[in-house]
Amino acid sequence: MQGKYKALWLDENDNLVVLDQRVLPFEETTVTITNAQETVDAIENMTVRGAGVIGNVAAFGVYLAARESAGDFDRLEELAKDIRESRPTAVNLMWAVDRMMALAKKKQKLLPANFLKALKNEAILIADEDCERSQKIAEYGADIIEEIMLNRELDTFNVLTHCNAGWLAIVDSGTALAPIYEAQKRDIKIHVWVDETRPRNQGANLTAWELAKAGIEHTVIADNTGGHLMQQKMVDMVITGADRVAKSGDSANKIGTYLKALAAKDNDVPFYIALPASTFDFEITDGVEQIPIEIRSEDEVKYMRGLDKEGRVQELQVVQSQSSALNYGFDVTPARLITGLITERGVCEASVDAVSEMFEDLI
Ligand code: MRU
Repeated sequence: MQGKYKALWLDENDNLVVLDQRVLPFEETTVTITNAQETVDAIENMTVRGAGVIGNVAAFGVYLAARESAGDFDRLEELAKDIRESRPTAVNLMWAVDRMMALAKKKQKLLPANFLKALKNEAILIADEDCERSQKIAEYGADIIEEIMLNRELDTFNVLTHCNAGWLAIVDSGTALAPIYEAQKRDIKIHVWVDETRPRNQGANLTAWELAKAGIEHTVIADNTGGHLMQQKMVDMVITGADRVAKSGDSANKIGTYLKALAAKDNDVPFYIALPASTFDFEITDGVEQIPIEIRSEDEVKYMRGLDKEGRVQELQVVQSQSSALNYGFDVTPARLITGLITERGVCEASVDAVSEMFEDLI
């Protein structure tokens, strides 16, 4: 893999091209990002979203910022700070900008062309490493699926997922969806319950689109359906991605994940979080107290986008104007509700001891 990924790539002028996730699944268009401000806009307005891809876009954004600041290192630092602050919860964003800026500091005395080349190569390396991590997560996750299937002699394996943690969110096969793609390769009969994931509908719009493209059987459900399905023994496992995970295993993910974890606990359904090491925040142990939760515009709750009967994309107001709305982007699932963390290094218990042991070299 060298710089061409499914959700983002560099064009012939070394600008970053991304799939516009705001308009999927009804339109497939791209947006070209040429500088730092456009990087910030794309992350803020969710042209791109999902912890991993945000990190990748930010890394390429630092490269574009370096090109724009033409040797002025102070300017580059300012632009990188803007990119770093474009969204608050997904820690891959800060991780990627810090990694790029650490390299920029080391290489700042190089000739301008070589300096830029070093930054571009680092951004490509970050994305390449994400692809490798996704593949490992796919394999460890699919091993769990295989084991549960065999133990319970299941014919079809039913997974429930929330939001989108496929290749639109982490290059190049995702985190939560990676084991599902791998299970398909292993000829495991798999069916996915896709939470629609209000208010932005990342499940209905993005996960369902990815699964349909891959030919994986799936059913979109309203967000409140999962608990009932679990009571009826229609869910064999829940897998979600994460945006920031504390050293204790407390995991921030799209709003509503916590409620699924509670229902899973009450029904003895295994609940896994899939994540690469770059999604850990080893500085914190209490996720509920310490992970910053983004509050987004109330318009995301009050308006919905879709196709009308004539097939035209329309945005409709679904809440009366005189009511206000509150839009928390994420919630935190406490470690006690998590069966395990599926990482590129293996499956890890959600606890300070287990995480510290597996990621000792990074802490
Ligand atoms: O607000 P988003 O769409 O950027 O949030 C992304 C998520 O919360 C996803 O659920 C995902 O699991 C994390 S990215 C792998």
